[in-house]
Amino acid sequence: MALELIRTIEEFRRVRDEARAAGSLGFVPTMGFLHEGHISLVKMAREQNAVVAASIFVNPAQFGPNEDLAAYPRDLERDMEMLEEAGCDLLFHPSPEEMYPPPKQDVYVVPGDIASRLEGAARPTHFRGVATVVIKLFNIVQPDRSYLGQKDGQQVAVVRRMMRDLNVPGELVVGPTVREPDGLAMSSRNTYLTTEERAAAPVIYRALTDALDLYRAGQTNADTLRASIRTTLESAPLVASIDYVSIADPLTLAEAEGEVVEGAMASTAVQLGKPRLLDNVILTKSESRGA
Ligand code: PAJ
Repeated sequence: MALELIRTIEEFRRVRDEARAAGSLGFVPTMGFLHEGHISLVKMAREQNAVVAASIFVNPAQFGPNEDLAAYPRDLERDMEMLEEAGCDLLFHPSPEEMYPPPKQDVYVVPGDIASRLEGAARPTHFRGVATVVIKLFNIVQPDRSYLGQKDGQQVAVVRRMMRDLNVPGELVVGPTVREPDGLAMSSRNTYLTTEERAAAPVIYRALTDALDLYRAGQTNADTLRASIRTTLESAPLVASIDYVSIADPLTLAEAEGEVVEGAMASTAVQLGKPRLLDNVILTKSESRGA
């Protein structure tokens, strides 16, 4: 089945009903300008479902007033080639007016504490925008399984919590973070790095995996683990500022005090040159460090 591009909600619903007769529907929401991280989710969805849908929508509601929505990179043609190659069947690519018809949206999904921490501290309306567009997309696509990347660990936590608290049907599947060979998490923001900054950037993952190694060696004190991450980042050239270093409960994102629980999320955001880069690892005794 060739990739089918659909721009309206009405048309998507029609095609979806036809496609559903084939079996389960897997859904990968994106903002486009795809890379191997996004594509890994499409491939996962391909393996687990009869029909695979992706969306490309640069969601204005999740951009803050100082964040440049207009500058968000776009390349629909290339994205479509990558999606088709990965076995995606349906691409939902609505206009802003289709998703947010006038008069302006008045009802939002407003996540609470989980969205005020970490990324939410710097971007107070970001997760309101994410949760709102995700529920809108889920209501349009009505997927059996939806796929999100662990790369955006707080986004996963917010969506998981929204699904639980609002009884949203369907399963959430989380894919591991896809990395460059030197460990840097793939992100469209990496293209803004200069050569020197790009060379320094793997320190972020190294700081997190050093903490993971410490945890696995028996160090379970949250302060010690946070200090280890911070020290590694501070020793790196070009890291202009460290926004946060966190060891948090994976479900509530409450900051860990004292002993770290198995499955906690170690995360950081740093300003490295122009872009702000995020990464996280899950502190587990076993499993590969892939995520
Ligand atoms: P976007 O940044 O385009 O990311 C789409 C999906 O790809 C997200 O689930 C994200 O976590 C995942 N992803 C990004 N980089 C990844 C990597 N290196 N490895 C694995 N997965 C990766 O996240 C959004 O869009 C938006 O907030 C969205 C959920 C679409 C709502 O607008």
